[in-house]
Amino acid sequence: MPSTTPPPEHLRKEVDSVLIGETEIAARVRELAADIERDFADRDLLVVALLTGTVPFLADLIRHITLPMRLDFIGVSSYGNNTAPGELVFTKELRLEAENRDVLLVDDILDTGKTLRAVTDKLNALKPRSLKTCVLLEKKSRRAEKIMGDYVGFEVPDAFVVGYGLDYAECYRNLPFIGILKPEVHA
Ligand code: PRP
Repeated sequence: MPSTTPPPEHLRKEVDSVLIGETEIAARVRELAADIERDFADRDLLVVALLTGTVPFLADLIRHITLPMRLDFIGVSSYGNNTAPGELVFTKELRLEAENRDVLLVDDILDTGKTLRAVTDKLNALKPRSLKTCVLLEKKSRRAEKIMGDYVGFEVPDAFVVGYGLDYAECYRNLPFIGILKPEVHA
């Protein structure tokens, strides 16, 4: 059920409500980190994060993981310049070696699943020893690919969610909570 907590005063014209607050996010991120630590115990992790929306979540998550890890990024966007909506464009390739590594792929939201499908296919082609996925949010209702996250923070309704990395037109990524954007803002 969407929360009815109002957003801070300065955002009330654009953001309808706070769906997941800072405290709730922080607690769930710690739980995800604990699950990852338990499952990857004694492993040397390669964390691969997808740009750009994953940044706040990634920064909080990895600070609660004490396993040895390396960190790399893949740039992928579903809306490139001069491309149709839904078409994926890779803007940065992986730099570190993934072969025989235990890879944890981190993203902010699993929606249709097209991004995670394309990136997991790309990573599996590099022959990692294992590959797991971790997403802060998932929308189950719009799934077009048969793919699930191994570690999932929260399931969210099919509303326009922004904040804590998620954007509308590249804005709102800096909000410390997940909010629902007013329909008139994104209409
Ligand atoms: C968003 C989000 C996920 C993807 C999820 O990325 O960060 O990577 O869409 O959608 P899907 O499951 O339908 O593929 P976006 O292309 O908007 O890039 P961004 O992270 O830079 O905002």
